[in-house]
Amino acid sequence: MRRVLITGGAGFVGRHFTRYFLEAGDEVHVVDPIAPGTGGVDPANEWPLFDPRDFDRFHFHRMDCRDYFHDRPREPFDLVLHLAAMVGGRLMIELNPLAVADDLSIDAEYWQWAAKALPGKTICFSSSAAYPVELQREEGYVLLSEEMIDFQGDIGMPDMSYGWAKLTCEYLARLAQERHGLESVCYRPFSGYGADQDDSYPFPSICKRALAGSAGERLIVWGSGRQMRDFIHIDDCVRGVITTMDAIHDGGAINLSTGRLTSFLDFARMAIRSCGYETEVVGRDDRPVGVFARGGSTDLQERLGFHASITFEDGIAGAMDHYREAAGGL
Ligand SMILES: NC(=O)c1ccc[n+]([C@@H]2O[C@H](COP(=O)([O-])OP(=O)(O)OC[C@H]3O[C@@H](n4cnc5c(N)ncnc54)[C@H](O)[C@@H]3O)[C@@H](O)[C@H]2O)c1
Repeated sequence: MRRVLITGGAGFVGRHFTRYFLEAGDEVHVVDPIAPGTGGVDPANEWPLFDPRDFDRFHFHRMDCRDYFHDRPREPFDLVLHLAAMVGGRLMIELNPLAVADDLSIDAEYWQWAAKALPGKTICFSSSAAYPVELQREEGYVLLSEEMIDFQGDIGMPDMSYGWAKLTCEYLARLAQERHGLESVCYRPFSGYGADQDDSYPFPSICKRALAGSAGERLIVWGSGRQMRDFIHIDDCVRGVITTMDAIHDGGAINLSTGRLTSFLDFARMAIRSCGYETEVVGRDDRPVGVFARGGSTDLQERLGFHASITFEDGIAGAMDHYREAAGGL
């Protein structure tokens, strides 16, 4: 049995890893203050897909991880998943960049704590937002591959303070290994999605609007709707991490991506189709949409033995079933 710490573990990604490690027989400590504006859910209010309180190996500390680090400077863990972050959807990233910059402090304090507590291994969630935005423009966008961020050479300009903080966290992971021998691997998830994601993200928002809509009613998406993302199901993200986490120890990065780009217009059409009707989808230009095309190369993941297997169509259909059931079988 491993002792596992998950910072930000009550959030969307964290809940799935909590489940994975509890079901694997590990002792799981989640530290999370349920920060407003994030996707965090207090276990006392019931997590959407499973109840971690069914396991006596589950321990929840409702507090800022920085306070936890101060209170327990040498708490031993075999594994830490460092997920804590002020994320929110695109509105938060664009309109509240200084709140998101809290991530710089969260990550700095994580690595300072780790240098004393010496966890066996750290799994850090960076982001595809760390990649240079200039590689994601309408003219000349490419599938992003891990070596496009080169700390010995070019790192480029990441996406707002969110991407900046993620890039810094990756850099600190490398320094922590060089100076303190701390083993870690950094993941760059692309657009992770799942049925229990917070409604501030496009995935649940578009699916639920498609479900509530009908033929003849237009469905509106943000921006032109032509902007594209690489949607990867949360179950694939978990499997991708578990399959590859032992392959890298020096803070190096691995994408979590499918290599398939889908525009928001197409996504909305797929969601509508899965509800069994057809209608027009239109873009609305007054909301922030971020970069034009953000997709990730899968070469490294595949070399390490992982291939994302849940198609976006199946992911949408699964989420629709969940939303229908939650609404009482509508
Ligand atoms: N979901 C994705 O597709 C995706 C993509 C790229 C990167 N990531 C990264 O994965 C991680 C988890 O993201 P998510 O989608 O689950 O977001 P989320 O908002 O659902 O979860 C983040 C959690 O961090 C917690 N948190 C915030 N500040 C904290 C602090 N000081 N101490 C402890 N916990 C704190 C929040 O309360 C929340 O529960 C983040 O680091 C995020 O940047 C996620």
